[in-house]
Amino acid sequence: MTSSLTQLSSFGRTINAVVVGASGGIGRSITSQLAGMENIRRICALSRTPIESTNKVTNHFIDLEEERSIEFAARFAKRVFGDIQLVIVASGLLHDKAMKPEKALRQIDKDNFARAMAVNAIGPALIIKHFAPLMPCSGKTVVAVVSARVGSISDNFLGGWYAYRASKAAVNQIVRTTSIEIARKNHEAVVLALHPGTTDTGLSKPFQGGVAKSRLFSPDQSAECMLRIVDDVSAADSGKLLSWDGSELPY
Ligand SMILES: NC(=O)c1ccc[n+]([C@@H]2O[C@H](COP(=O)([O-])OP(=O)(O)OC[C@H]3O[C@@H](n4cnc5c(N)ncnc54)[C@H](OP(=O)(O)O)[C@@H]3O)[C@@H](O)[C@H]2O)c1
Repeated sequence: MTSSLTQLSSFGRTINAVVVGASGGIGRSITSQLAGMENIRRICALSRTPIESTNKVTNHFIDLEEERSIEFAARFAKRVFGDIQLVIVASGLLHDKAMKPEKALRQIDKDNFARAMAVNAIGPALIIKHFAPLMPCSGKTVVAVVSARVGSISDNFLGGWYAYRASKAAVNQIVRTTSIEIARKNHEAVVLALHPGTTDTGLSKPFQGGVAKSRLFSPDQSAECMLRIVDDVSAADSGKLLSWDGSELPY
């Protein structure tokens, strides 16, 4: 990994960006790296927990389990920012007080399963539903959804984590399907699912035991890798699941 930050110059113009999950480990790093780029005009940072706004970053509430909050956030973004060229969905749910990833079938819980689907799959689908209309019909645009390698069905040799895996497989399918529809509106549009690599955040904390230090990214490293991919991709990559190093992962 090199240390020079990408500048997103492939968009060929200054752009507005939306980051969903801007209060999270990876989302915060993405937001602050975008804020440091000359090619980024404004950032609409959406989160459930408030974060600080600056002259470039405007925070607004969003709860992915409430479609009305997504609709309001999109209306707000349209009024304040106008066109949006880049949307990054960096939110996600693996565990919380009520929910742990399942090790066995007997641990599957209907309500927790539904929450994982709501936050990890339906939420991103609703984000694209409400924000895609704000994206221009020409020029490079990118919707990047932070997914996870464990959502790959053909790459699953370990089992477990039923709800999280299923919700990430679902969001991968949403990305693929959206890429087909959005290409009809803008042939330069890119819709991607990204695997950030195992990253040191609250989400991965309880599961870092077996991960070698050298394989655990800081949020800044993972944000840097994914922003480089956003800069490198073109319409030919739309609909793919890409890993942090730009390699394509199988669905
Ligand atoms: N860390 C890893 O090793 C790793 C590996 C593979 C994939 N990923 C993926 O990377 C993405 C970012 O994860 P992270 O590691 O940065 O985790 P994180 O620090 O726990 O951040 C998760 C973010 O999701 C937001 N979120 C959760 N439920 C929400 C809801 N109902 N409405 C709005 N926002 C909600 C959280 O918001 P609040 O804090 O405001 O509630 C937080 O900003 C996730 O999609 C995750 O699955 C992470």
